[in-house]
Amino acid sequence: MTIYNHRFIIKSIFLFGLLACVSETFAQVVTIPIETANQAVVLQAGNDKRLRCIYFGHKLSNAKEYESVPEAYKQAEDHAGLLNSAYTPSGSRNLFEPAITVTHADGNQSLDLQYVSHEVKSAGSGVSLLSVLLKDPVYNFEVTLYYKYYHQDDVIEQWSVIKHHEKGKVTLQKYASANLHVKANEYWLKQFHGDWAKEMQPEESKLTHGIKTLDSKLGTRANLFMPSVFMVSLNGPAKEDEGSVLYGGLEWSGNFKVDMEVDNQDNLRIIAGINNYASAYVLNAETDFTTPPFVYTLSDKGTGDASRHLHNWARNFKLLNGKGERLTLLNNWESTYFDFNEQKLGELLKDTKKLGVDLFLLDDGWFGNNHPRNDDHAGLGDWRENRKKLPNGIASIAKEAVNNGVKFGIWIEPEMVNPRSDLYQKHPDWVVKQPKREEYYFRNQLALDLSNLKVQDFVYQVVDSLFIKAPSLAYIKWDCNAVTYNAYAVHLKDAQSQFYVEYVRGLYKVLQRIRAKYPTVPMMLCSGGGGRVDYGALQYFTEFWPSDNTDPMERIFIQWNYSYFYPAIATSNHVTDWGKQPIKFRTDVAMMGKLGFDIVVSKLNTNDLQFCQNAVKAYNDLKGVIWQGDQYRLRSPYEQNMACIMYADAAKSTVIMFNYLVNNRYGESSKMPVKLKGLDPQKRYLVKEINLYPGTQSTIKNNLTLSGDFLMTVGVNPDLNSQRTSVILSLTEVK
Ligand code: DGJ
Repeated sequence: MTIYNHRFIIKSIFLFGLLACVSETFAQVVTIPIETANQAVVLQAGNDKRLRCIYFGHKLSNAKEYESVPEAYKQAEDHAGLLNSAYTPSGSRNLFEPAITVTHADGNQSLDLQYVSHEVKSAGSGVSLLSVLLKDPVYNFEVTLYYKYYHQDDVIEQWSVIKHHEKGKVTLQKYASANLHVKANEYWLKQFHGDWAKEMQPEESKLTHGIKTLDSKLGTRANLFMPSVFMVSLNGPAKEDEGSVLYGGLEWSGNFKVDMEVDNQDNLRIIAGINNYASAYVLNAETDFTTPPFVYTLSDKGTGDASRHLHNWARNFKLLNGKGERLTLLNNWESTYFDFNEQKLGELLKDTKKLGVDLFLLDDGWFGNNHPRNDDHAGLGDWRENRKKLPNGIASIAKEAVNNGVKFGIWIEPEMVNPRSDLYQKHPDWVVKQPKREEYYFRNQLALDLSNLKVQDFVYQVVDSLFIKAPSLAYIKWDCNAVTYNAYAVHLKDAQSQFYVEYVRGLYKVLQRIRAKYPTVPMMLCSGGGGRVDYGALQYFTEFWPSDNTDPMERIFIQWNYSYFYPAIATSNHVTDWGKQPIKFRTDVAMMGKLGFDIVVSKLNTNDLQFCQNAVKAYNDLKGVIWQGDQYRLRSPYEQNMACIMYADAAKSTVIMFNYLVNNRYGESSKMPVKLKGLDPQKRYLVKEINLYPGTQSTIKNNLTLSGDFLMTVGVNPDLNSQRTSVILSLTEVK
């Protein structure tokens, strides 16, 4: 009995120990699915506590089965066990591009990050926030990964918060926002490059082994040569309506770096964040370093679906006042440049009213006295009205605008200074320049050091004082024309490597102050074109200026490419005198976004003027569908002789379809009908051509009524030809 009992006890202890051990083993494997309506990213911490991404793709119906995913892959050996790390640390066993590299307080450069805990919270209706805490077992150093996921839109924003409790300072050498891991047979990158007036030129190529980097080191006007937005399609080049495609972009208005590395297992590692170029960041103990969100969406229904998800997300959650109103406007930049006075502005206010748009936007050249802003060599920084041009100040123009029944907006470029200015002479220490080197200018100007609180105050005051002087001020165009040369800020003393980061943080602090006081005033984000747009900035701006190139033929392509990532409501398009196309073509193209004009209204002939006035009225009727509707890119100007884009309202009862002939060779025309998308097959639609030029007749049959089924299966022909190079069709449900 005793022996039996003894054996029993030993056996029980053994069994209990085994069970405890097994359950401990199970307990150590933590699987964290991040699921949206259709997609999933799944993280898993294994027995070794390393957090990995084990799945990136279409959501499974049974979340338990994600655990079986790793088994399904029989790939080459992962020597370090870190290839699919959710946030790759460097200096320990990692062999690939890291997400984070640090120098600890004692000079050691190694980092290991192990899973500690995670939690999911609600971040609003349909939005969840996952945080995963990782710690180094040796150093008192931690990273919390954040995943904010928007269920309906299949969009994820990902960032990290880095912190330490070491004795002394830690230097962050690299600090990415996100580290993705994608598995497919092939990866096709569509990236965009450009320059002034040539924004968003696409290039698509197959990613090969090694690293492809998209980056910017331009500072202030970071996107001039390349934006951070890109798409990667899996298993073949991107298609509009089929295939898996990932869109990504960094929400940061400064230097960025996106590394895409096809590894030895043929998987794709994407590491995105602030560019660590010349940007080692010294972090004090107990201080959070928060990286900007990297936003991405994955679709397995092609680029059209991915864009619609991103547009919805932007309008609902990111773009300032994304569901709200916008103002149509007349801008005087291309009609007057720097040459205007009160009398001329008075006439332009009348023209604004005559045209029928909401607002007159006074552009560059209204300020500077000791150094008048009569060209782009002087005056930036001296934000007082030029007494010769505007003896009664902007308050009087704003009043005059009200008297004319229109609103008034103004251009500023408050981050910049011309060496020929009072500001430069008074505060040379506010200017970004190398103390011992020759100054070097971009458009004859330099940036102000926004890392400096005093400069932040100054920039805030520039905006605030305008509203104080002219309380009816209804719009701001915020320009930024220079890149950053000779990055050096007096105020940062020996912390120069923090300049690029602190500049953007300073800019955002100013914008936050402005938005706290003026939450809804529309502001256009301009940078001599699209040198700046990103979703970090768009939380403070209602719209952006895609390019100074307003030649409508060029614009079809530029807007096409922006439309992958940004909704029409955010895209400011102005009708100007660029290009050879008639006013109808120019206006139709500009209507595919937020409409404005920058032409000499008084010089329009009767028909052109009447056309523009009617177009503004038509736009006012249609703008809700263009701004808030679902966008479908129907015909690509890159593939055919025509470009077609449509917008449909949520009820699928109102549709606007824009069509352009983009090839002017002999005999080019729309020989085939264009199939519409996203309609209700059961509904019947009245097809009508709108926005006709005075005196012209539509060639579209009267009372043409077709079913959604017909329109999506056979299509409609806009009848484009050399006489009809631009055609807008409206399709309205017939009840
Ligand atoms: C660049 C902008 O893109 C233009 O529209 C205009 O505002 C000029 N700057 C003014 O200097």
